[in-house]
Amino acid sequence: MFITFEGIDGSGKSTQLQRVAELLPSPVLTKEPGGTPLADRIRAILLDSGSTIDPLAEVLLFAASRRQHTVEVIKPALARGAVVLCDRFTDATLAYQGFGRLLPLDRLRQLNDWATDSLRSDVTLIFDLPEATGLTRARSRNAEAVADENRFETEDLRFYRRVREGYLSLAESDRERYVVIDADGTIDEVFARTRAVLEGRGVLR
Ligand code: TYD
Repeated sequence: MFITFEGIDGSGKSTQLQRVAELLPSPVLTKEPGGTPLADRIRAILLDSGSTIDPLAEVLLFAASRRQHTVEVIKPALARGAVVLCDRFTDATLAYQGFGRLLPLDRLRQLNDWATDSLRSDVTLIFDLPEATGLTRARSRNAEAVADENRFETEDLRFYRRVREGYLSLAESDRERYVVIDADGTIDEVFARTRAVLEGRGVLR
């Protein structure tokens, strides 16, 4: 069972992933970009606020990181029957690089399929909230975090609005695989919603 957690920066998805993991016997927790030593090095390049990067170079680095992560971590875990909880996956590329940076979606879909051998999540949870709320949360978190990791969070609100709308339009295109969760609330409130969704899907009991 492969479950991915998506949403704009500051949507609280990573906290919810941790809470879900506490209720599962031995889940595999992982995240993108990153998840392997090589992919973590690519992550450092991608999130370095000092580097100016061409949008296509950027998406190819995400794809390289994803490829390594898929073959080294995700597929082996799924093959032994583990529940894999992944913080961002292919849909982040569609939302951020496609809807956000306006790269062509069909190309991005091909790239995602190539990088993952067309691996799809069983369920993708999209944590949705107004972009201004997400950005405020992400900024206050980043004030305490390493300066290098905030390149994405210095993007403007219009960018995040497109990313948010991108996620919502992906959700509309496939109501089976995507579930939108209202992420505007306390951690406990959002977790109650998340739990209800995963109980409905038979992931949690
Ligand atoms: P990260 O620190 O992991 O943020 P978060 O905890 O909010 O997930 O940074 C990941 C950033 O990279 C985030 O702003 C989204 C962006 N991203 C893309 O633009 N495309 C992608 O394919 C992925 C996986 C992430």
